[in-house]
Amino acid sequence: MGIYDTHMDQNPSRTMDCCKPVIRPRRLRRGELMRSMLQRVRPRRSDLIVPVFVTSGAQVHTPIASMPGVYRYSPDTAVGWLSGLAERGLAAFLVFGVIERGRKDATGSEALNPENPVCQLLRLVREKNLPMLAMTDLCFCEYTDHGHCGPLCADGTVDNDATLELAVRQALLHAQCGADVIAPSGMMDGIIGALRRGLDSQGFADVALMSYAVKYASAFYGPFRDAAESAPQSGDRRGYQMDPLRGVEEALHEAMLDERQGADVLMVKPAMPYLDVLAQVRQRTNLPVAAYQVSGEYAMLQAAIAQGWLDERGAICESLAAIKRAGADWIITYFAERAANWLER
Ligand code: PBG
Repeated sequence: MGIYDTHMDQNPSRTMDCCKPVIRPRRLRRGELMRSMLQRVRPRRSDLIVPVFVTSGAQVHTPIASMPGVYRYSPDTAVGWLSGLAERGLAAFLVFGVIERGRKDATGSEALNPENPVCQLLRLVREKNLPMLAMTDLCFCEYTDHGHCGPLCADGTVDNDATLELAVRQALLHAQCGADVIAPSGMMDGIIGALRRGLDSQGFADVALMSYAVKYASAFYGPFRDAAESAPQSGDRRGYQMDPLRGVEEALHEAMLDERQGADVLMVKPAMPYLDVLAQVRQRTNLPVAAYQVSGEYAMLQAAIAQGWLDERGAICESLAAIKRAGADWIITYFAERAANWLER
């Protein structure tokens, strides 16, 4: 039989020498023990941050249509739910206010009312000694009648510097109510520096700033805007949030600006469509990096899970591992409660 015998490959013991690889990565995938010894990307429960939508009233537990499995709470029910999560090893929540339409105005003044649902929840969490870090989203889109992230100039654009002044006041209120971490999400220029100086000058040097440093004008926020009733009434957010079609340099510029202004943690948002950006931010900074797996990412996965098209545990854990591998220290995710069943502490 010569080398032209075409039947010879069918008998593995007679495979041609040229078909025998010397280097075989499959050796290290042979069994569960070997695989688990080599795993390095292991998201933990304590990496996760649970988003909470809180509205006024009592005994509220309302499903959000575009995010099946996610609910709006009143402060009393939110604190009950969160205590259960704390017992199951989750370490932090990030709170968003859902404000009644009648309480919204052009400047979002309800954001500065110490009786708003966010402040009520923060105080309740302190009273009950809930063993979780309290993080607050700092923005005005949930509070303004026009739905933009700050007061508007005459030409309809958001007034950057006027927003900063209001933001400092909102941050001081959150700090007084017991926030551990404040996360400004409005993409206003100079907000980290303004908040840091404002907090420090009023005795809140210990309150950390997690900057939504790299936040894209993304289609994946749709379900959140239903949940928080914060969709802009006219126009869009492209005048302040980042253009998905710009190069990564803009993201690095934003990240470095916030680092220089005193951010403690830098966030990239959304997560899965921007893992390349996350990985590059991770390489350029020595600060911890957070990633936000946003409402649209949740809705997308959850819809396929509900249809039986994706395996629930497999898809959720793999998505969190991918975000971790790209460089996130913290992951803000609507899957936090379910993931707590599967991840180590
Ligand atoms: C507020 C804010 C938004 C999100 C977080 N903070 C909405 C937006 O910018 O329009 C989105 C979060 C999500 O989609 O899960 N500015």
